[in-house]
Amino acid sequence: MRMVLLGPPGVGKGTQAVKLAGYYGVPHISSGDMFREALAKGTPLGLEAKKYMEAGTLVPDSVTIGLVKERLELPDASRGFVLDGFPRTLRQAEALDELLAQLKMPLDVVVSIEAGRDVVVERLVARRTCRQCGAVYHLKFNPPAISGVCDRCGGELYQRADDAEETVRRRLEVYSKETEPLIEYYRSRGLLISVNGEQDIEDVFEAIKARVAQV
Ligand code: AP5
Ligand code: MG
Ligand code: ZN
Repeated sequence: MRMVLLGPPGVGKGTQAVKLAGYYGVPHISSGDMFREALAKGTPLGLEAKKYMEAGTLVPDSVTIGLVKERLELPDASRGFVLDGFPRTLRQAEALDELLAQLKMPLDVVVSIEAGRDVVVERLVARRTCRQCGAVYHLKFNPPAISGVCDRCGGELYQRADDAEETVRRRLEVYSKETEPLIEYYRSRGLLISVNGEQDIEDVFEAIKARVAQV
């Protein structure tokens, strides 16, 4: 299974990507998680990405494309992958097509997860993320068993700097301008399926699996 998840910030790409990667037995590849890991380690890549992430804008294509390319060339990605947060610009989508053509592993499906602005804002402002493993929670919709502690690894939960309301607004603008055109890009290639992201986490998961099985 070679899948791309598309959708606005907060729609649940990361949440679904973890479940789908487990279900299909393939790696979950998230450009955002890769940048946050680099930042936590204080690498030059992380420091470069920091200013864009905190502003809610995109890290330049020149940086992002190289990073994801290296990841997709690792042996485990030959089994398949769930890509989350990449591609996000037309240039990234074209670079991905070229790379996957070279590797002889074309995409099977692109899933567009859809939800209204109010829904995604409500999800982002009460999101909590594990500092250690990146697992994602929501104070109301998906709370951890013990407040402030990751169920999976015991790590500390924190609020992402880019989940501040002002930055969320900026990220949504950037999404409409830079990323939304990819929906048409993939629809015209016959790869797109759309799923209602306003349902419960489990219902979104079931809907994606059912739609993908028909492809
Ligand atoms: P990235 O980390 O990719 O962030 P994003 O796209 O803004 O998406 P999010 O991670 O915020 O949301 P999500 O859709 O994963 O939702 P989640 O599952 O967490 O990117 C961050 C930054 O890195 C970018 O702004 C940019 O600077 C840089 N970057 C990354 N990739 C890049 C690229 N390719 N090019 C350039 N720059 C790049 O869910 C959200 C919340 O809702 C959680 O609390 C969750 O528990 C809850 N939730 C999820 N599903 C449901 C549901 N069905 N019902 C109720 N609650 C739900
Ligand atoms: Mg995410
Ligand atoms: Zn954790």
